[in-house]
Amino acid sequence: MKNNRLIIISYRLPFSIQVQNKVTTVKPSSGGLVTAVKSLDLSASSQKPVWIGCADFTQRTWEKHRHEVNDDFEYVPVFLDKATNKHFYNGFANSVLWPLFHYFPSYVDYHDEDLAAYQTANQQVCEKVMELLQPNDLVWVHDYHFLALPQLIREQEPKATIGFFLHIPFPSNELLRLLPRRCRDYLLTGLLGADLIGFHTNDYLIHFLKSVQLNLGLPHTLAKIFNQDRAVQCQAFPIGINYGLYNDGYNQPEVIEERRALKESYPGKIIFSVDRLDYTKGVMQRLDALEAFLQAHPEWKGNLVFILVVIPSRDEIQTYWERKQMIEQAVGRINGKFATLTWVPIVYRYASLSFPQLLALYTACDVAMITPLRDGMNLVAKEFVASRQDQQGVLLLSELTGAANELGEALLVNPLDEYEVADQLNAGLTMAPEEQQRRIAIMQQRIAGYDVKQWANEFFESLLTARRGQEKSPVR
Ligand code: F6P
Repeated sequence: MKNNRLIIISYRLPFSIQVQNKVTTVKPSSGGLVTAVKSLDLSASSQKPVWIGCADFTQRTWEKHRHEVNDDFEYVPVFLDKATNKHFYNGFANSVLWPLFHYFPSYVDYHDEDLAAYQTANQQVCEKVMELLQPNDLVWVHDYHFLALPQLIREQEPKATIGFFLHIPFPSNELLRLLPRRCRDYLLTGLLGADLIGFHTNDYLIHFLKSVQLNLGLPHTLAKIFNQDRAVQCQAFPIGINYGLYNDGYNQPEVIEERRALKESYPGKIIFSVDRLDYTKGVMQRLDALEAFLQAHPEWKGNLVFILVVIPSRDEIQTYWERKQMIEQAVGRINGKFATLTWVPIVYRYASLSFPQLLALYTACDVAMITPLRDGMNLVAKEFVASRQDQQGVLLLSELTGAANELGEALLVNPLDEYEVADQLNAGLTMAPEEQQRRIAIMQQRIAGYDVKQWANEFFESLLTARRGQEKSPVR
């Protein structure tokens, strides 16, 4: 990739610029995609990569503050108008694709005007790509916001090298077919403009191949779709993390201090979970399981705490702000039911965590309780395992996450079965230190062996191979 410049496209840029009461703050964005792209090893490329994303600030603010985000990337914001962004991001992306792809069809709120805004946004981003595209550039499109973009670029530049990676699950066609036919055909055809399409797991890959066959009637092998004169390579690349960052974090002075403070405040066992506020994360079911656990194991009362951190997210969407109220009511109810005058079972925080705070919680807890109802991968699980330089702690993980495929030594549970979760929580809290060590050590080896750099390198290698194959013999 020495001679190739990278053009990354994602909805979110790795920073946001907010102006409040005439004060401007530049804040880093959170989330798996941003963290992964920021951790790429760019030393192999001689040219500064370009990162195109949708701005949450005005053109004027950008002109004034762009120098503050000057780093390894050249950032190119796309300024969608307010209404388009609302119908595109809150509407089609997060009220249709997100719930449907995570198996929540009853949360889907489909409107033609939202689909129209999605088309406009993809078109506008395509125009920005076309302004910048040079021969030999590698275009890497990320996530469900831009399913249509690969084909839009291909129509303008048939020779472009385009990779696409989906950061969320790809669902069974039984879910996809709930969309109007014109809509699902548009999305699938859009994706097929890429040379390479990557998914987190083989299950998502198989769902995609089957959907393309059933909806578009295109033949495929296990790794390729034959789209008229082009063969589109499809492959699973389970995303990794920056292993060293989390493992080394254990001994950072701020982390040691935060951990000491936590242990002092909570001398009993600590159960910890952290998620963005999202119905897919299963926080309500997790609270039900905790309640079932406290009911079944009164011996733990006064001897443990559940630290529940929820990170604000998508709070303009009704299903999200409603969830916040539901969680807060459940926390209040459970604390009211089990607390004594000197102890509460749940410590709840609705805020983002700093890196040292997150690391301190990962490394102070006895059980990390990560139980989404559906998750493309779940990087929190991998970060927790990587951070345990002491090789202690238990991962209680939902089997409905992509990460469960790679982390079989965790205590795997069905997040909907509160009794199983409660039972496994007890197993985690009583697990012998040698057994904790055995399990964590195996998982660490696996995660360290395929970190985010390897993930990206493997993607680039496959993309270049797919492109070379295209040039030599288009339909092979
Ligand atoms: O999982 C998909 C994803 O785009 C992740 O990158 C990230 O964790 C999350 O969703 C962030 O969502 P948003 O950009 O809507 O805040």
